[in-house]
Amino acid sequence: MTSLTRRDLLRTGLALSASTLLPGTVRHAQALLGRYPALEPAGALPPRERLLFDFGWKFFQGHGSDPARDLGFGKGQGDFAKSGEFWFSTQKFDDSKWRDLNLPHDWAVELPFVRDEEQNSHGYKPLGRRYPETSVGWYRRTFDIPKEDSGRRIVVEFDGAFRSALIFLNGYFMGRNDNGYAPFRFDLTDFLNYGGKNYLMVRMDASFGDGWFYEGAGIYRHVWLTKTSAVHLGQWETYVRPTLKGNTATLSLSTVVRNESTQAANCSVLWEVLDASGKSVAKVVSAAQMVDADGSASFTATTSLIDPALWSPETPNLYSAVVSVESHSPRVALPRYDAERITFGVRDLKWDADKGFFLSGKPVKIKGTCNHQDHAGVGAALPDRLQAFRLAVLKDMGGNAVRTSHNMPTPEWVEACDRMGMMMMCETRLMSANPEGMAQLETMIKRYRNSPSIILWSMGNEEWTMMFQPQGVRVVDDMIKRTHELDPTRMCTAAVNTAFDTHFPEQLDVMGFNYNLKVHDAWHMNHPKTPSVGSETASTVSTRGIYSTDKLRNWVSAYDLNHTSWSQLAEEWWKFYATREWLSGGFAWTGFDYRGEPTPYGWPSINSQFGIVDMCGFPKDNFYYYKAWWGSEPMLHLFPHWNWEQREDEPISVWVHSNLDSVEVFLNGKSHGSQKVQPYTHLEWKVPYEAGVLEARGTKDGKIVLTEKRETTGDPETIRLTPDRTEINADGEDVCVLRVEVLDKEGRPVPTADVPILFKVTGEGELIGVGNGDPNCQESDKEPKRSLFNGLAQVIVQGNRTPGTITVEAHTEDWPPPKLPPTQVTITTKKVGLRPSVG
Ligand code: GAL
Repeated sequence: MTSLTRRDLLRTGLALSASTLLPGTVRHAQALLGRYPALEPAGALPPRERLLFDFGWKFFQGHGSDPARDLGFGKGQGDFAKSGEFWFSTQKFDDSKWRDLNLPHDWAVELPFVRDEEQNSHGYKPLGRRYPETSVGWYRRTFDIPKEDSGRRIVVEFDGAFRSALIFLNGYFMGRNDNGYAPFRFDLTDFLNYGGKNYLMVRMDASFGDGWFYEGAGIYRHVWLTKTSAVHLGQWETYVRPTLKGNTATLSLSTVVRNESTQAANCSVLWEVLDASGKSVAKVVSAAQMVDADGSASFTATTSLIDPALWSPETPNLYSAVVSVESHSPRVALPRYDAERITFGVRDLKWDADKGFFLSGKPVKIKGTCNHQDHAGVGAALPDRLQAFRLAVLKDMGGNAVRTSHNMPTPEWVEACDRMGMMMMCETRLMSANPEGMAQLETMIKRYRNSPSIILWSMGNEEWTMMFQPQGVRVVDDMIKRTHELDPTRMCTAAVNTAFDTHFPEQLDVMGFNYNLKVHDAWHMNHPKTPSVGSETASTVSTRGIYSTDKLRNWVSAYDLNHTSWSQLAEEWWKFYATREWLSGGFAWTGFDYRGEPTPYGWPSINSQFGIVDMCGFPKDNFYYYKAWWGSEPMLHLFPHWNWEQREDEPISVWVHSNLDSVEVFLNGKSHGSQKVQPYTHLEWKVPYEAGVLEARGTKDGKIVLTEKRETTGDPETIRLTPDRTEINADGEDVCVLRVEVLDKEGRPVPTADVPILFKVTGEGELIGVGNGDPNCQESDKEPKRSLFNGLAQVIVQGNRTPGTITVEAHTEDWPPPKLPPTQVTITTKKVGLRPSVG
């Protein structure tokens, strides 16, 4: 089913024989990842250092209401009375009994499930003010700062943490950050011990939430320690703004230099633009300026690229710009104050009210999915590689866009979109013009405005109260105005539901429709000048591998037959959008299943069933509907499986998703008829069941070009483990994602198997999570065991920093029958340059 060429495979470094063992989706996803190798290290250049601060933390579960179980914090009145007295962030405090862990870390995923309807949005995890014993976590890290660092600016940066962080260093309170998604930073310079030990303490309190979905708990994104000269580039102030005209891209370059030294500094800024191979393609200097002590100054320049390699989902060409601040003062010892590298891409965006969306002059229909950020086994704390893995699954489906619902994404998600070619509607969490809302918005725009993948900024989602009130218009106006000041190149939208006839949507550059297909045409007629996008569509529900809805077991059939009262089938919404040129395309809710918002059923369901793929990324059948109509390859998918013992002679609904001309279905060699494919529509047969081989033959231009079979299998006889890669980096971060199946005696995966499997991981790595995509499974995400759900489970293994091998063994010992012989696979962890990190 895949059109991978041999060249693709060679480029990926996967041997043909090994890759052919992999199921299509994984194989294709790997090819995509192989083409876009390891994520770039942070763009710091000397003398700037940017150190990963993820390794070697201590953790302790505190308490939200009992100071005695929360290090005495808040026992009396005086905690914040005098500076420097937070003893738990000094050497006096003994953390030796605390748990060792590395970041990113989500403690919510480690908690048991609780049957409490108030907690259903959070996936039935015990977080909140009624669960003080599981809602507070303390993280502690001891580190050295050399004497020579005195005089530099040293800043700790959190990419985001959930939630209400209080930061302490060496007894001093550094500050707080409330929301769970925006990055935050504290300048530690004045509080550090130079030439000695330093004690950083972070108290996280997940008692309040930001959203209505699973949000995790703890420091679930990366932390960094950045060291710069006192004269340095401002945080996220550097941008490269390309304007494309004909075959020339004019690059507007801009940055801000801050001077935190005691003397004025005479600086110039040098810009060098490099292509993807690292070749210098343009150089320009901003004129020298005096930057006052404690002051800052903007530096700008312009240059151009002739015949630039354009960025698109098919050709994600990137450039980088190295920006360096040079000194013109003879008194300064080092000629360079600071430098960083930022990545950008060249492409042009146009939104047209009648013709939809254009990328660099070409009409492009947005084939998008909305996604939350959690994954099976790891919750919200995703290793970087897993983010790229998830994106590869969506890309393999033919998707060309994602929406970061409903919050600012991780830097790695955006970077993976830039590198792998996925457009993005980037959304802020808080729709508000209050200081917190504006700060979140500004951070998002500044942090990501250089990313070519971002095509649209979203001011928020379904603010049902505010959108109907005059405040809504004022707030969104302020937000859009500020966004355009910071980034005049992109349009703004918001995801609108119900408030279609208010003044709210009239403020938007691009109208965002959530659901409600009945209002689109009239709205468009009444607002003929406003471009539109489906900011949220679908909310189709299905359970992977289930073919009849069973309300007692919380299962929804995987035929495209079920949606909630406010939403549509895959086939309904896409047919609607595909056949209206003025609609730029849309974002289906959701690509992946996610924890929380269990829909359509509640307990014992702990996650939603909206996903086109499950929590692990295993495709449900709708995946192939999208692949047929979004992808560029011939497609044929036949379902259901063909294990229907005791239903002999009963007519079974046989469906095919295909973009070929016609499809003929056979059972045990006997034809059940051929049908012509109608655009955006599935095919369906009723085939009386008899064990054997169900086959679909797909024809294009009169020739059979694809066939698919479903065979009745026997009982499980062996276990098969299929790693997504057999070699990963020994960097303490990289992961291998293993697919777990059981095979019958002829080596065919058994699609209905629910065998419990145990895992043993030895060598230079550890198991960091398991899953099976079952929305009702309450087995632990962290224990080394998992039942298969409809034939599949997933194990995620992370390497440490010692090169060697990791062995993953799967067996059924000690668990109920059937007893299957153990099997194992070995993964090599190879020596690589480590990202600079805090020792
Ligand atoms: C939407 C909402 C999403 C999700 C979805 C479920 O209205 O924006 O966050 O809740 O419904 O269908």
